[in-house]
Amino acid sequence: MCGIIGYTGNLDAKEVLLKGLSQLEYRGYDSAGIALEDGKGDVSLYKQVGQVANLKEVCQNAGIPLSHCGIGHTRWATHGGVTEQNAHPHQAGKVTLIHNGIIENYHELTDTYHLQGQLVSETDTEVAAQVIDHFYDGDPLKAIHSALEVLKGSFAFCILFADIPERIYCVRNVSPLVAAMSEQGAFVASDLTALISYSSSYFIVPEYHIMVMEKDHITLLDEQNQPVKPEMLEVNWDVESAQKGGYPFYMLKEIHEQPEAIRKTVLPRIKDGLPDFEQEQIPDSLFRNCQNIAIVACGTAMYAGMVGKALMEPMLRIPVSVNIASEFRYEQPLADEKTLVIVISQSGETIDTLAALRLAKNLGAPVLSVVNVKGSTIARESDYVLYTHAGPEIAVASTKAYAVQLASMYLIACRMSFVRGRYTVQEGKAFIENLLSCVPAIEKILEQTDEIEKAAHHIKAASDTYFIGRGLDYAYSLEGALKLKEISYIHAEAYAAGELKHGTIALIEENTPVVAFATQSHVFQKTISNIREVRARGAYVILITKESAEIPEGICDIHFTVDAKNDQFTGLPTVVILQLLAYYTSLSKGLDVDKPRNLAKSVTVE
Ligand code: M6R
Repeated sequence: MCGIIGYTGNLDAKEVLLKGLSQLEYRGYDSAGIALEDGKGDVSLYKQVGQVANLKEVCQNAGIPLSHCGIGHTRWATHGGVTEQNAHPHQAGKVTLIHNGIIENYHELTDTYHLQGQLVSETDTEVAAQVIDHFYDGDPLKAIHSALEVLKGSFAFCILFADIPERIYCVRNVSPLVAAMSEQGAFVASDLTALISYSSSYFIVPEYHIMVMEKDHITLLDEQNQPVKPEMLEVNWDVESAQKGGYPFYMLKEIHEQPEAIRKTVLPRIKDGLPDFEQEQIPDSLFRNCQNIAIVACGTAMYAGMVGKALMEPMLRIPVSVNIASEFRYEQPLADEKTLVIVISQSGETIDTLAALRLAKNLGAPVLSVVNVKGSTIARESDYVLYTHAGPEIAVASTKAYAVQLASMYLIACRMSFVRGRYTVQEGKAFIENLLSCVPAIEKILEQTDEIEKAAHHIKAASDTYFIGRGLDYAYSLEGALKLKEISYIHAEAYAAGELKHGTIALIEENTPVVAFATQSHVFQKTISNIREVRARGAYVILITKESAEIPEGICDIHFTVDAKNDQFTGLPTVVILQLLAYYTSLSKGLDVDKPRNLAKSVTVE
């Protein structure tokens, strides 16, 4: 949700900002803008609607004088349409500012500070700029503190004051900001991807602390304006892992990175053949003492939770619920100290997931989070963290992050079963062997993509598609449908196969694509019957089964198989087929696979 970057130092600020915005573009790409300060306090703005490439073109041809200090923003619109006026940076008096988040009381502030008639955009951000300028009398810290008392909502701000050259002021609440200092200057950004080419150590700007960036140092001040030492962290990604590496799109690269990501996530947690979380300091008592599990997440992460539930309930025989974070946080959830709350998030910054986590903690529940981004807010606020090791995921459509979330569900399910006496050592070891065998099973899929591409060509012409399965297959179908709709804009609905005839089957007509999953032996025949029902109504059926399955003649138009000995482990290879199906469908429609319309990578607003 909006990418922001700020820089002051000895490099060409325009180049640093434009490069950073390209790296942050996955966070939002409705419009982009930069503000450059000329070293004497004069600030010039450059903004463009659309992708960062448009802004780059304008900047390249604008004969912009060299500047060493500036701020940049790539927008995911919340308040106000996609226009140049609404693009950031915004200016009010001496203040130039960029913002990620939402100022909830901006209507009220507009009235209080009589801003009607002065605003040139429809954004909440411009109101924030006006409010800070209102309080500004030459003392930036005082102005920011006064503004913080009246601004409500989430924000990460980078601010230039016209009469204070070469300095950037930053402050945040909820919305993320990371900062780094190198010989080249001081850098701030929404996330690490824009910083890793400049520094291998960084820190997270603490909430409500004011950070003052100067070209040779950064000062961090607490709420009482006392200097505090930032808590430095080491980057665990390399620059290359955040680049395309020869692939046409990040999504394809990330799909291919899944075997490695799974290995990196699973192998360090295996000791004597069993999952072991000693290094993470996750105690067995956490797993032994809980009476139920509540999984909380959004989007793909939530669908990884659906697989977790379908795995864990039969293994553990305790209730496992999967909760949409934006519902959980407002609907008086049933959670207490006996509930193990498992929060899943790639970014570790999703606002609804974070709010749900805070609520769960208030209810007394211990929280274990499964997070990809090191040091993210969700990771820091959880009682325990199991980091996934997918590396940076840039494509908006989540792929490798989902794979490692699934791998983590397997690890947790296995450790819990063992700790609770439901698995013997032998059973636990066999489970982990099966989990590791998913890696070659995925590699096998990645070697045979031609058929998937063919299926995508059939799907691309459709207006509606259906994904059906039972049990674990139903959980996979949810993710498959989400992937297809988000990057191909084709309506895709996941349905429990047995439920179809209670209404939705009315929508099946000649040639409607139905992706059917039948990897679960105990309901195999039932699913086959459901496939017959849609086939009888003309559906074009793409079927996924285990390699060993014997399928009836003529049951489908295209058949994909996954190599899994055990039904519990069909998910990882199956989902890779679904990811590729979505990828090739989007590609064949000529869409921007990595930057689907209306979406942003991390959703840091409600
Ligand atoms: O960063 P998170 O895992 O918390 O993000 C959750 C969802 O926003 C995310 O999975 C989203 O659904 C993806 N675009 C799906 O591909």
